[in-house]
Amino acid sequence: MTKRILSGMQPTNNLHLGNYLGALKNWIKLQNEGAECLYMVADLHAITANHDPKALAKSTREIAAAFIASGIDPAKSKIFVQSAVPGHSELMWLLATIAQLGKLERMTQFKDKAGKNAERAGLGLFAYPVLMAADILVYKATHVPVGEDQKQHLELTRDVAATFNKNFGETFPLPEPFITGPAPRVMSLRDGTKKMSKSDESDYSRINLTDDADAIAKKVKKATSDPHDLPGSKAELEGRAEAANLLTIYSALADQDIEKTINEFAGKQFSAFKPALADLAVAKLAPITKRMTELMADPAQIDAYLERGNEHARGLSEKTVAEAREKMGFWK
Ligand code: TYM
Repeated sequence: MTKRILSGMQPTNNLHLGNYLGALKNWIKLQNEGAECLYMVADLHAITANHDPKALAKSTREIAAAFIASGIDPAKSKIFVQSAVPGHSELMWLLATIAQLGKLERMTQFKDKAGKNAERAGLGLFAYPVLMAADILVYKATHVPVGEDQKQHLELTRDVAATFNKNFGETFPLPEPFITGPAPRVMSLRDGTKKMSKSDESDYSRINLTDDADAIAKKVKKATSDPHDLPGSKAELEGRAEAANLLTIYSALADQDIEKTINEFAGKQFSAFKPALADLAVAKLAPITKRMTELMADPAQIDAYLERGNEHARGLSEKTVAEAREKMGFWK
């Protein structure tokens, strides 16, 4: 079976270090290993939260620019816009008839996002994982590189695919999650027990791909740490969430094992480690930010890349939707 990779990111706010180290770096690696890669801007998912209609198209281009600036090559990978490919929504409805309410109710992302007001949450937020299943299955993707927070959604995707296959005949391969990025769960800089997230109120909780050197230095300096020196071994990181997070970020940015980072900074104080981390983050992110700005100066070029990807994605997805319709017995 040949590998087909599919993944996506929502155009909500800026991409941050968690998106980059948890997913994007892995996307680039898979692309460079020669896999067939489909990477989309998940704008239909983005509208499950309050969104600004005036900003959506620009944010969509910005995410595409971030993909390219980070190393996704539109000549090798297909980059496209979810809402430009009708097959996602169409397959979603077919799958919605077999996705079980009980399983959707157990999704932690829904619980987190809906909060205490679940009764008022939109149906789209609740059905978010079914659309995600459709995104993956409409391309019969075999591997899905994501951060750890998406694991439960991928389990649901496999579940829905298996039920479809059982009810209507073998149609979808069961997609494998690839949660193997250098930092599959980057935590908030303010609280080492909370995930780094676009929706955190405090901008100091995350490093955005668009932050300049000053902002990065300030955020790293203010990052929560603990009163101890840096540990001499991995075992000593037990119970030190903030230290573990900062060392993981450093290692992922430096493309090295955490053991090597621990050896480098063993016994040093955070006041010595933090400037090194800030310098490394700036060195790695500044070229991406610069390239993103250049790309955003020519939106027509970004649109051209996306149009090409959209067309390819439409071709693939139409075939699967036709097959699913036929298996389900629709007229024609
Ligand atoms: P989004 O935009 O919220 O996140 C994009 C990717 O970034 C990863 N990620 C993280 N990784 C490590 N540490 C973090 N703190 C962190 N925060 C985010 C996410 O795991 C994700 O891989 N629902 C998806 C978008 C999507 C999708 C799909 C993905 C829509 N359809 C189909 C795969 C396949 C999401 O959460 O995007």
